[in-house]
Parts: sequence; C-alpha cells; structure tokens
Amino acid sequence: MNKKPLILGIESSCDETAASLITENKQGIPIVLSNIISSQVEVHKEFGGVVPELAARSHIEKIDWIVKKAIDKSGRKIKEIDAVASTAGPGLIVCLSVGLSFGKAFAKAIDKPFIAVNHLEGHALSPKLNSKLNYPYLLLLISGGHTQFLSVNGLGKYKRLGTTIDDALGEAFDKTAKLLGIEFPGGPQIEILAEKGNSKKYDLPKPIFNKGGCNLSFAGLKTSILKITKTIKTDQEKFDLAASFQKTVEEILYKKTQIAFDEFGKLNNSKEKIFVIAGGVAANKNIRTMLVNLCEENNYQSIFPPIELCGDNAAMIALVGLEKFKSEQFDDLNYPAKPRWPLDEDAIFLKGAGVQL
Ligand code: KG4
Ligand code: ZN
Repeated sequence: MNKKPLILGIESSCDETAASLITENKQGIPIVLSNIISSQVEVHKEFGGVVPELAARSHIEKIDWIVKKAIDKSGRKIKEIDAVASTAGPGLIVCLSVGLSFGKAFAKAIDKPFIAVNHLEGHALSPKLNSKLNYPYLLLLISGGHTQFLSVNGLGKYKRLGTTIDDALGEAFDKTAKLLGIEFPGGPQIEILAEKGNSKKYDLPKPIFNKGGCNLSFAGLKTSILKITKTIKTDQEKFDLAASFQKTVEEILYKKTQIAFDEFGKLNNSKEKIFVIAGGVAANKNIRTMLVNLCEENNYQSIFPPIELCGDNAAMIALVGLEKFKSEQFDDLNYPAKPRWPLDEDAIFLKGAGVQL
C-alpha cells in the first residue's frame, strides 16, 4: 500500500466531544494531524458530576463543528479520508449514540468503511501515539470508570490480571474531592492541594492490600475520608487529607503493580518487560513518578502516554481505527452502542477477591 491510511476518529462516550485525523509515516509510526477536544466541564459543574441528558445534548450541539475543525486543522480533504472510527462503548448510551451515529453517517456519505472502537482499547494503545511499543505489555488502566491490570498481547488480545472490586480510582479521586468541597471534576485538583499537605497526617485504610492478588478496592478509603472530613476545620487539614489520600493510593498501586509484574512475568516469558499506564488518573505526576521508580527497581521499561493524551481524546480512537483498518477489521452500519464492553470479555470472575461481577 503506497498511500498511508488517513483515519477520522470520533469520541463522545462521556463528557468530551472529540475528533482527530491520524495517519502514519513510512515506518508505521502514527502521525496525529489534528486532535480537537471540547470539554463539558462548565455544563456539569453545578451538578457535581456528569448529567447524561445534558452531556448528550452538548455532544449533539458540538459534534459537526468539532469534526469540521479536526478536518480543517489536519490540512487534508474529506475525500482523502479512508475510514471513520467512532467509540461504540463502554460509556453513557445517550452520549455514545451521538458520536456513533455521526461516524456511521459520515462513513456512509463518503462511501468508506466504518470501524467501531472500544474506548478502553483507545486508552490501552494510547502510548503508541508517541512511542514505539511492542506486544506483549502490562497495562494499568486507571480512569474515571475503570481500574484494571491487563496483559496486552496484540490488537484485541487482552487478559485481565486484576481489577477494582468496587470504585474506579478516578471515581475515588473525584469522590474525595467532593467530600473536601472541591468543584467537579476534582481529581486533578487533589494533586494540586496535596502539594501543600503533610501526607503522614492521616492514616487511611488500604482495603485488600494483603490479599486478592492484584485486584484493588477503594470504597473503604472513601468511607474513612467521609468520617475525617466531618472533623476538619482548617485549610491546612484539607491539604493534609488530600496529601494523605494521594500517598495511600500510591502505596496501594506500588504494592499491586509489583504483584501484577509477577503475574505478567508468569504469563509471558518475553525478554522485554514493558509497563504502560493509561487513562485520566495516569496524568497524576506523583503516581507517574512512583511507577517510573518501581519500573526501574524491577527492570521494567516504563512507556507512558504524554499527560495531554491520558484523558479522553479522539486521537486514541483514530489510532485503534488505524490498526483495525490495516488488518481490515470493519464493522456494519448497524453496530450497536455498548454501554458495557469489557476488554477481556472472558474475565467475569475475580479469582483473587472471590467476587462475582
Ligand atoms: O480517562 P478519563 O479522562 O475518562 C474516563 O474514561 O473515565 O478519566 C477521567 C478521570 C476522572 O476521574 C479524573 O478526576 C481523573 O481521571 N483525573 C485525575 C487527574 N487528572 C484526571 N486523577 C488524579 N490526578 C490527576 N491529575
Ligand atoms: Zn476514558
């Protein structure tokens, strides 16, 4: 194939409306030509969380100009696009439907293939947008809705090693922020407040720290923070609690990632040991630094996406589209939106925690 594929990616699974055009160079390294993201933070702020109906309405209002902007910015013409890839799940069904329907209609209008993309697969492959990355690798996916360790053995080949048995890590950050009176979305603010606090001030629980393999749990942490916030009187105490929470999360991830290293090693006897983090929480600098150090201690190579590509974006969706295009994995125009769509469809039973999901 002489001409390199040009893929339009569309993302609308939650509260970001996004579109991106990507292609690749002669060596097969992806080139992001445009990556437009419109966040709905202002729409949902007063409600303290994402309101699905308002999110869907906002996607409908913005999607055509976001896609137009992505095409204009790319410097390429509509007729050059080879395929359209849209997020089909997991996410809020009313939100997914907007980008999915738009993508299908666009593909039909330009008479090019349509590709349905799993949002989590977008996060999982996102480090490929700026680094060369070989399979297999160990992935820690830490977002607002998911927290999982996965062995990534190829496109569409995932084996879950561990997952949260209750809250996702991003959710724990957001709920802690809410309890501290920080406006939505609070996760990134915790990191800022934590800088001013004493991380040793509060001793917080680490649920299933010594059992459950590399499965994780954050619900008990939140309950404990709720109790402490009732006693807090000063700003300094708030900073101390944010710092203590972040430190506790780091300690949990340190321990559980070490267990995941062992499990990944047993599963794959590849010479190269690669560790990847992805998802919104992977933007947290303290967590990144701690995990880079852990990789050095364990002879793992750390390949992390740049901070701006950790959160939801359409470049990662276009990237999965590009990979699927190259292996001719196309989808029908009746492909449904899938609010639940695990990466590893077989991993229903959590062996370590003994919990049926
Ligand atoms: O991947 P993402 O953008 O959306 C989902 O697919 O869920 O992740 C969003 C989550 C939110 O919970 C947000 O609070 C969290 O990522 N987050 C952070 C940081 N930046 C975003 N959590 C901790 N520290 C950050 N710097
Ligand atoms: Zn996401």
